[in-house]
Amino acid sequence: MSVINIRTEIPGPKSRALMTRREAVVPRGVAHSERICAASATGSTVTDVDGNVYLDFAGGIGVMNVGHSEPAVVAAVRDQVGRFTHVGFSVLPYEPYISLAERLARVAPGAFPKKTLLVNSGAEAIENAVKIARHATGRPGVLCFEDAFHGRTLLALSLTSKAAPYKLGYAPFAPDILRVPFGYCYRCAFHAEHPSCEFACIDEIERQFSRYADPRSIAAVVVEPVLGEGGFVVPPLGYLSKLAALCRRHGILVIADEVQTGFGRTGRLFACEHDGVEPDLLVTAKSLAAGLPLAAVIGRADLMDGPVEGGLGGTYCGNPLACAAAHAVLDLFESGQLLQRSEAIGARIETFARQWSKTCLLIGDIRRRGAMVGIELVTNRDTRQPAKRETDEIVRLACERGVILIPAGTFGNVIRFLSPLTITDEELDEGLEALSACFMAVAARLSTIDA
Ligand SMILES: Cc1ncc(COP(=O)(O)O)c(C=O)c1O
Repeated sequence: MSVINIRTEIPGPKSRALMTRREAVVPRGVAHSERICAASATGSTVTDVDGNVYLDFAGGIGVMNVGHSEPAVVAAVRDQVGRFTHVGFSVLPYEPYISLAERLARVAPGAFPKKTLLVNSGAEAIENAVKIARHATGRPGVLCFEDAFHGRTLLALSLTSKAAPYKLGYAPFAPDILRVPFGYCYRCAFHAEHPSCEFACIDEIERQFSRYADPRSIAAVVVEPVLGEGGFVVPPLGYLSKLAALCRRHGILVIADEVQTGFGRTGRLFACEHDGVEPDLLVTAKSLAAGLPLAAVIGRADLMDGPVEGGLGGTYCGNPLACAAAHAVLDLFESGQLLQRSEAIGARIETFARQWSKTCLLIGDIRRRGAMVGIELVTNRDTRQPAKRETDEIVRLACERGVILIPAGTFGNVIRFLSPLTITDEELDEGLEALSACFMAVAARLSTIDA
């Protein structure tokens, strides 16, 4: 039985009315993928204020890996609401934070002793990871990548690559940041091919070190094992371990930004596990607490203990409701098949995408790790000219046909898939069938224009 149910024009009248009110009181800088307003969500579906039901392939930007309104999460949060909602961990500590730190230390890669700092958002966690790395090494510099996204606060934004809309007009940025090309094979900065390139992009870091950036001044590298906002860019296996080895040679700490890749999205709890990399500090957020604001820096105990008492924290950090939700999420990963599902979901999406690419010439590249699937669209497969307009058109059409999608990529030309990992095969197929029609419609229009 089909779950998509579109009963009004999109956006419907109630969404339009709410958006009119929104325009009067919310700044335009807060963007929306769609102009439909949510009323409720369960499992892999979202219902809007007009009663239209959509399949959610965005998951609130990768936050809902365990599904919307997951009963175990709802029950855990309800239970905690009845006990207390806030005392401030820096005023009075509480068990759910401590036990969550114990559990995260167990599940994060690395056999060494670990400690965990809880904060409220991915950006805040990145800021704290860099603070800890600087404190531990006494070095100011941070190495980061082209096409990376690490958040919107000053230091996180400085590490973020894309200019508009993220950085435009917000200078000056934090100093001591060195940016190098990522292992983005489809758009290789060195026009090389993997594997014959032998990771020229990593060698480039050594070259920069020898020319103008003394590695003794660099505290840490901040790296997404798979680029998220930057376009679901999956570097070849071996890339992350080669990067980690380079860092170890120079005493540079490895900070893995697993905000979008974490909590099962790539078929492992953390994506750096695919490469056998044990980061010194691992940053996670999003699906960690199924929609409650929570992020973590899980790191080597000796580094985490560097800052003096009071040097880390914040009023709401490690909120008990969010901790309760995270415990329920971890229970689900421990007792269920979510990691296996992640791989199966990704494989299913890839099968559809490869089928589409036979006739839809817009599709330039299909890449995935687990359920983290990206389809990069180009107007010409030879020149690889990014097809942003067409990507936006597919996203818009998908919404009208009942599938919520979000784009990604520095050029805004990548369709990314972030459905809950609890999505059923039937739901997934229904959404993918709807998307087939959208890809074909936009591709047909393009070929008409070309002709
Ligand atoms: C890889 C990565 N790092 C950091 C962030 C920032 O997280 P937040 O939006 O919770 O601040 C994001 C958000 O999308 C992300 O994808």
